[in-house]
Amino acid sequence: MKTREINISYTEYESMDQLSCADRELAEAAIKAMSGAYTPYSHFNVGAAVRLSTGEIVTGANQENIAFPSGLCAERTAMFHASATHPDAAMVEIAITASQDGKICASPATPCGACRQVMAEYQGKSGRPMSILLVGGEKIWKFSRVDDILPLIFDSLK
Ligand code: THU
Repeated sequence: MKTREINISYTEYESMDQLSCADRELAEAAIKAMSGAYTPYSHFNVGAAVRLSTGEIVTGANQENIAFPSGLCAERTAMFHASATHPDAAMVEIAITASQDGKICASPATPCGACRQVMAEYQGKSGRPMSILLVGGEKIWKFSRVDDILPLIFDSLK
């Protein structure tokens, strides 16, 4: 018997100025996308922007419903939008940000498990890593691939 460890490394930035031009553009698209959030119940607005292998950016925002489970997170809204409109393109990066009371949350908002699972699906489909940029008001985290936020991804079904 032995104890094993899973190590995850990611990059932390102090501000948007430290990002590459491409990452800054994606972060800004996610921030802009928050304006499309429909959140009469939580008032918690999330924006997501997906960079495709074609270079295009596709966005989404969370959509709520009076029957709560019928709503959808920003990340899945963006990824389903991307897959439905660009089925052959790989999703190479997703930027995510959230705000409350009109202010970007200081700490990066981390995606829920269901959204991570959907990221894993599209990363597996393309065979290319999808990086994840979590944009907080006071710090920004970048993960290189979905495996880093969803260790031990289910892939036993062949
Ligand atoms: N939400 C997202 O859009 N993404 C996540 O990863 C977690 C939560 C949304 C769903 C709901 O509209 C609101 O945030 C509060 O949970």
